[in-house]
Amino acid sequence: MESLLGLKYPVVCAPMGGVAGGRLAAAVTRAGGLGMIGMGSAGSSSALRRELEIVPAGTGIGIGLVDWVMRRSPDLLETALAAKPKLLAVSFGDNYDWIEQAHAAGIPVAVQVHDAGSAEQAHDAGADILVARGLEGGGHGRPVHQRQEALRQTLTATDRPVLAAGAIATAADVTDALEADAAGVWVGTAFSACLEALSSAAHRRALFAATGADTVLTSTFDWAGGFSWPSDIPERVISNDFVAQWNTDHDDRSAAAEDLRRAVAADNESRICVNAGTGVGHLTEATSAAQVLMTLCGF
Ligand SMILES: Cc1cc2nc3c(=O)[nH]c(=O)nc-3n(C[C@H](O)[C@H](O)[C@H](O)COP(=O)(O)O)c2cc1C
Repeated sequence: MESLLGLKYPVVCAPMGGVAGGRLAAAVTRAGGLGMIGMGSAGSSSALRRELEIVPAGTGIGIGLVDWVMRRSPDLLETALAAKPKLLAVSFGDNYDWIEQAHAAGIPVAVQVHDAGSAEQAHDAGADILVARGLEGGGHGRPVHQRQEALRQTLTATDRPVLAAGAIATAADVTDALEADAAGVWVGTAFSACLEALSSAAHRRALFAATGADTVLTSTFDWAGGFSWPSDIPERVISNDFVAQWNTDHDDRSAAAEDLRRAVAADNESRICVNAGTGVGHLTEATSAAQVLMTLCGF
C-alpha cells in the first residue's frame, strides 16, 4: 500500500456521494491519508468537475464512482480519467471493463469486494487494491460477511494490497485490521461528520445521536428516490421516521418521493437519508479530517 500510493498513513477516506467532496478529499490527503471525491446515485460529470475545482493543484486525491451511474453517464468516467486521480474506484458492479481504461491512463484502481468469489473476480480483472467490505459498513454494499471474515476471504484470493472496510471507527479497529494483514483501511462514516464534509446540519445531528443499533439495511430511500440500485445492494442508514413509514409500504412511490423531497428541502433529520455504519456511535462532534485521521492512527 505504502509503496503503491506513497501514503504517510494507510487510511483511505471512502468516496461518499453527497458527503465526500473536494474539500474533504483534499483535507484527508493533506493530513497524510488518501481523500477521495465520491460521486453517488446523483453523481454527474458537472458535479465531479465542480468538486475537482476545489482541490488545490498537486493534491493527490482519489475519485470513486458508482457502476450503474457511470454506465448511464459515460462522460463521468471520462471526466474522472482526465483528472488523473491517484486512485480510481468504481463500486457496485461486476463488469470491470473500466479497469483497462484506467490502467491505459496510468491510474491505479480499487474495487470493493465482499467475499472470496468477488475478490477473485476483481483480482483477475486487474484491481490494484481490493477493499474487503464488511456488512457493518455505512452506505450501499452487498451485505454478505462481517468485516473480519470479508477480509480473511479476500486475503486468500489475492496477493495484492487489501484494505479493510466496515465500521472502522477507532485506533483499535485500525490496529486489528493491520494485524490481520490488511494493508490499510477504507473508512466512510468516521469521516462523514467532518467539518470539511458536505453533510448538512441535520445529517450531522442524526450521526451524533445514533448508535450502531439504530442502523438498518434498507432500499427504501432508493425506491423513493427512483434510483436504479440492484436489488441485492441495500444501504445501511440510520433508521428514522421515513424508514418506519415506507419500509413496508411500497404502494405509492410518488407520495414517498414527495415526502423525501420535502424532507431534504427542510433538512429534516428524522426523515432524510443518512448513511452510516455500525461504528456511528463513536461520532460525537464535528472535527477536522486531520483530527479523525490522527485518532484512527492512535495519536
Ligand atoms: C455517507 C456515505 C456515502 C457513501 N457513498 C458511497 C459512494 O458514493 N460510493 C462508494 O463506492 N461507496 C460509498 N459508501 C460506502 C463506502 O465506500 C464504504 O464501503 C463504507 O463507508 C465503509 O463503512 P463505514 O462507513 O462503516 O466506514 C458510502 C458510505 C457512506 C457512509
